[in-house]
Amino acid sequence: MSTQPTVRGSNDATMTRRGFFMKLGILFNGVVAAALTVPVLGFLLSSVARGRGNGYVSWVSLGSVAQFPEGETRLATFRNPNVMPTDGTTVDTACWVRHLEGDQFQVFAINCAHLGCPVRWFPQSGLFMCPCHGGVYYRDGARASGPPERGLFQYPYKVENGLITIQAGELPTPGAPTATLTGERRPCAS
Ligand code: FES
Repeated sequence: MSTQPTVRGSNDATMTRRGFFMKLGILFNGVVAAALTVPVLGFLLSSVARGRGNGYVSWVSLGSVAQFPEGETRLATFRNPNVMPTDGTTVDTACWVRHLEGDQFQVFAINCAHLGCPVRWFPQSGLFMCPCHGGVYYRDGARASGPPERGLFQYPYKVENGLITIQAGELPTPGAPTATLTGERRPCAS
């Protein structure tokens, strides 16, 4: 009889510790769940917040039209409008600008339509060539030969106040709203 209060006190103390650790565990799980849920929800809702499908697209200037002489194709760079603090210099994106005449341009993505290697323009031959697997494109971006299944992708552009501006933000791919497809596969003899 005399030891009962001591035992009960010990049990009470055990229950209290259990309860404390239970609550601590629930609190910890809640914090972890919130930490995992917030970024996932942010990602899922970002397209809704930015507008469906075109959330990353915005118009970016390539500079003055005078920088691109008629009849020539020149390399231009622009800053990707969607920048993360950790992106560094990768936000500087290159593209090829072909000035036909007047306000008529073609702005090609630098990435090969096969696996994305940067293509080079060779004015002597009037061809874009890919160093990776030998993909070749005509001056208008149409596929000439090699593994690419299609021509170079093009950025939509507009000319205003002497500046050429492109719709950038997403890499042009078959599914991107900025993408347009140039040319059909030409027969080798043409
Ligand atoms: Fe250009 Fe393969 S990446 S040909």
